Amino acid sequence: MDNSQTLYIPVILGTARMGRRSLHASRLVTEELNKRNGVETELVDIAKLPLPTNDAGEAIKHADFSSKVSKADALVIVSPEYNHGYSGLLKHVLDSCLKEYIHKAVGIVGVSAGPFGGARVIQNMLPVMRELGLVTIFWDVNFSSVQKVFTTEGTLLDDSYIRRIDKFLKELIWMASTLRHGREQIALH
Ligand SMILES: Cc1cc2nc3c(=O)[nH]c(=O)nc-3n(C[C@H](O)[C@H](O)[C@H](O)COP(=O)(O)O)c2cc1C
Repeated sequence: MDNSQTLYIPVILGTARMGRRSLHASRLVTEELNKRNGVETELVDIAKLPLPTNDAGEAIKHADFSSKVSKADALVIVSPEYNHGYSGLLKHVLDSCLKEYIHKAVGIVGVSAGPFGGARVIQNMLPVMRELGLVTIFWDVNFSSVQKVFTTEGTLLDDSYIRRIDKFLKELIWMASTLRHGREQIALH
């Protein structure tokens, strides 16, 4: 891929909880994305976005987050499972943009302490992704029993995740390229 075709795929870390293990998962996915030719990525930590909580939606759009999503060809959202749902802060951040998401790909990484790897939070996110105009891919990454997958410092203990992330990223990059072609070349009649 030449420069004009470089895909920008930021990884959104979807929790501000102290001691969040989702940080390890999002760092790993960002590292794996960084290894790919033709992809530019960065970790976007929602804990660092100073959004007000006395309003919601596009009224509180954050210029930097909005420009990152505008530039993005795809997003990776790393979401922990909290009572089978996503964090309220993640929804608050996602709601601050709208047109920035349209016809872009999204892949979801679920993180849970339990055995289901965030499968329930991922299912609960799908209708939200659709409403935002994002196009979901059919692979996820599921970090189950995440406390056994990484050490407290974030070292990966289970190499099988590299293969799973690879499969997920292949699909995400394909969808991101396809949708970019569509956005640039195909008119909406
Ligand atoms: C409020 C709250 C609710 C949680 N609910 C679930 C749950 O429904 N299922 C589950 O497997 N783990 C649950 N957990 C554990 C998280 O999945 C666990 O903390 C995991 O490390 C991912 O979240 P983290 O990134 O905040 O660490 C919950 C944790 C919190 C703080």
